[in-house]
Amino acid sequence: MLRLDTRFLPGFPETLKAHAEALKAAQEALLAKRRDPQNMLGWIDLPEDTETLREIRRFREANPWVEDFVHIGIGGSSLGAMALEAAFRQSGVRFHYVDHVEPEPILALLRTLDPRKTLVHAASKSGSTAETLAGLLVFLDWLKAHLGEGWRRHLVLTTDPKKGPLRAFAEREGIRAFAIPENVGGRFSVLSPVGLLPLAFADADLEALLMGARKANEQALSPLEANLPLKTAFLHHLHRHLPVHVFMVYSERLKHLPAWFVQLHDESLGKVDREGRRVGTTALPALGPKDQHAQVQLFREGPLDKLLTLVVPEAPTEDLLLPEVEGLEEAEYLFGKGMFQLLKAEAEATYRALAEAGQKVYALYLSEVSPYAVGWLLQHLMWQTAFLGELWGVNAFDQPGVELGKRLTFALLGRPGYEGLADGSMEKQM
Ligand code: PA5
Repeated sequence: MLRLDTRFLPGFPETLKAHAEALKAAQEALLAKRRDPQNMLGWIDLPEDTETLREIRRFREANPWVEDFVHIGIGGSSLGAMALEAAFRQSGVRFHYVDHVEPEPILALLRTLDPRKTLVHAASKSGSTAETLAGLLVFLDWLKAHLGEGWRRHLVLTTDPKKGPLRAFAEREGIRAFAIPENVGGRFSVLSPVGLLPLAFADADLEALLMGARKANEQALSPLEANLPLKTAFLHHLHRHLPVHVFMVYSERLKHLPAWFVQLHDESLGKVDREGRRVGTTALPALGPKDQHAQVQLFREGPLDKLLTLVVPEAPTEDLLLPEVEGLEEAEYLFGKGMFQLLKAEAEATYRALAEAGQKVYALYLSEVSPYAVGWLLQHLMWQTAFLGELWGVNAFDQPGVELGKRLTFALLGRPGYEGLADGSMEKQM
């Protein structure tokens, strides 16, 4: 369950009503795009894909020997898996993320792993991302060196169903490869095998996660009154003059969620719009209560240039009673209270303090940090982003701005076809 609180944004309900027609038009325009797969709206259907879920379950059951799960992928091919696994892992499987190209941590990881008990999962929609290919080369070589012909059982891929080097490699070598539907882009792929496969090895409740995501779908397809993602998208639209958007989550279990959201928001919406204007707001990750001892100073007394979203659980899934301890009278006010009560009080206090400072802030309450509620939240945020794309006149599903950096990297590494790009003759190639 997800609940919106805008008590410190007076007049919001009235403003929302006044914009009902424009919002309905944005909703209709987005939904009309579902008909064309080129528009990359396949993420809407992922929560309904029970066949893929069954396949993933079967694969997990067929591989009970896995003790270490190495996930190679970057951006949308790792951040969601990492956020959900950290929150909902129930198995004893240890997870390791190779989402970088720094040799030292990879070498350190290789020294600790037993190849016989390790499953390597490389996830890449395009199948051609340099960081992911580099990680795969290293782990493939390591598996082959230690396991000989047995290496195939220790590698699984997730990639485009038809295209790209990873799909071709899987077919040639007979490697198990799950599919990210063609019409699903990287940062919208968390509920595809990119996220579900690692989560299956974490023994997380995948059905509940997808069931929650279906609730967000239900809301997003509803008229404005019941359409939470359209409402939060409008909140952002209304405050688009504020350059910074703080996404602050009050849950240690969800500590990696802000990074997933930052990619979703910034890469989808920081663009040149149809009129040629640069648009977008900069999402900033924050974690409560830790950031009350860090960034909140800036949020309270620094520039009033922010819209803040506080994501706050309403109830614990399990609580811890704070015991009475003699000699620590300073802590008496805590004796006998649930630890969650402290967490909740801190979130509420920060909420009020930020509003009092004059920052624009709203809260999204999660019934609790469960796969169901978080599945709902993730899909909600994807809808919010998609609606904002409509409102801001940008394509939320492409990322032309990252291309030049990729091409320059290829040129610097001497990849054929990119010659000259890195030595000042860039213009000719563009
Ligand atoms: O959102 C996106 O599409 C990108 O940020 C990708 O997630 C990222 O570049 C990784 O791409 P790929 O999954 O093709 O390796």
